[in-house]
Amino acid sequence: MNPGPCYLAFEGAEGCGKSTHAARLADELGALLTRETGGTRIGARIRAILHDTEVTDLADRAEALLTAADRAQHLDELVSPALAAGRHVVSDRTVYSTLAYQGYGRGLDVDELRRINGWAIGHRWPDLVVLLDVSPDVQASRMHGRELDRFERESDEFHRRVRAGFAAMAAADPDHWVVIDADGDLDTVYRSIRSAVRERTGL
Ligand code: TMP
Repeated sequence: MNPGPCYLAFEGAEGCGKSTHAARLADELGALLTRETGGTRIGARIRAILHDTEVTDLADRAEALLTAADRAQHLDELVSPALAAGRHVVSDRTVYSTLAYQGYGRGLDVDELRRINGWAIGHRWPDLVVLLDVSPDVQASRMHGRELDRFERESDEFHRRVRAGFAAMAAADPDHWVVIDADGDLDTVYRSIRSAVRERTGL
């Protein structure tokens, strides 16, 4: 991979440990740690709509466009300036979450979402996507007892399609994706992430 600032994405299902690992990696690399949705002040307001369990009538395309709006703000306000200043960026979710959740999950056209989101991000796609793959059983045990948001309340079938969508995107673009088995304990999973990132980016 080119020397210079690297834009690293963490993706995966709820309960895969993404946020913990993204924070640890960003700390180690001295990178900007950020997230979608809700990484900016505008994004926090958008996220509030998206996660509100009282929002029961949000159209699928409106949902997709809200995530794209969050992302456009995020790129302009945080990601692009950091990269331009020579700083690595680690983001807890990116554009691929929309392809997985609104595309594979909700059934919107994935190519159309790719096009709309390419525009939203000014065509600055992540350099490397770390997909944390967690099995449904381990995921269920990690989510047990948590209060669930609007997405987490979706059916098992929805979450199965999201997981399959992530796997399909990773398989189709192995140059930009690395898949990590995230069923193990935090330190074991982080070691796998760290060595994969080193191998793929030199960082
Ligand atoms: P998290 O930020 O706590 O991981 O939760 C984000 C939730 O929002 C998760 O269920 C996935 C969902 N989501 C989408 O559906 N589309 C998106 O583009 C993003 C960024 C998140």
